[in-house]
Order: sequence, then structure tokens, then C-alpha cells
Amino acid sequence: MSFAFAPTATTADALWAETAAAAEALVAGEPDGIANMANVAALIWQAIPDLNWAGFYRFDGKELVLGPFQGKAACIRIPLDKGVCGAAARTRETQRVEDVHAFPGHIACDADSRSELVVPIVAGDRLVGVLDLDSPLPSRFTATDQAGAEALVARIAAALAA
Ligand code: SME
Repeated sequence: MSFAFAPTATTADALWAETAAAAEALVAGEPDGIANMANVAALIWQAIPDLNWAGFYRFDGKELVLGPFQGKAACIRIPLDKGVCGAAARTRETQRVEDVHAFPGHIACDADSRSELVVPIVAGDRLVGVLDLDSPLPSRFTATDQAGAEALVARIAAALAA
């Protein structure tokens, strides 16, 4: 298969839809969840503008552990009562943070981060981990980005779970 991905969408919702379709095609037939996370992190990094970190934390049954990502080296373990990622994992609800400096307990892995979007990944009833996107721009993530990222995760959650 070809791994070429050249998104053409000009609106955020179309871009997310295109990226989700590409992600679904990339993970199709591949049972290794870590490999799938690696490719999807690369895809999002390429497609979605104004990010300084894009990747996954995996839930090991106790806490979140750093998974495949693009961006600067990041903190490795995040307890569920810490940070934006921990909040998303604990509540199983997306956290869309306009200003990370105003979020109590935000973990600053990269000092450039100003806003953040974290989507929980749930397959069946099982918490698999989270998709974490950081931006150096304040209020980078809109409701459209949230819906787009949630739809992407929903489409491929089973392929990330293995
Ligand atoms: N900022 C996150 C930590 C992970 S890094 O951004 C990659 C948090 O507060 O959970």
C-alpha cells in the first residue's frame, strides 16, 4: 500500500474527516495497537496545523504511560489525578483547554504549549489511553476540532486497543 497522504481540505471539519478516513485506512488489518498509534500520531502531525505535540498515552491499568508521539520528548507517566491527560482518562470525557496555564494541575511537558485537546480512547468498556494534542497557540482547538478528533478516535479505537 501507499502511505502517501496529501490532505486537500480547506475547512477544519473536512480536514478532520479526511484525516480520520486516512487513519482508518492506515490501521486496517493491522492488529498491533502501538504500531497503529505510531502511524496515526504521524498522520495527525502532518495534517493538523499549529501543533507542537501530537500523540498517545496508554493506560496500563493504573496510570497513563507515554506512547507513540511526534514532538519533543515528554513526561513518561501520568497518574489519573494529574494533568489534562489524567482528567480525560479519569472522566472519559474530552478535555479542551483554551489556556493550559489556567488549568489546575496542567503538566508542562513542553513550555511552548498554550492550549491542549485530550480525547479519551475507550474500546468496549476498556480505557485504552488518550490522544493528546498540544498547540503553541492559545485557544487553538475549537469545538470543530474536538468533534473531529473524537470522531477519528471513535473510528479507530479498536485498532489502538490491541
Ligand atoms: N500537558 C499534559 C501532559 C502531556 S504533554 O502535554 C505531552 C497534561 O497536562 O496532562
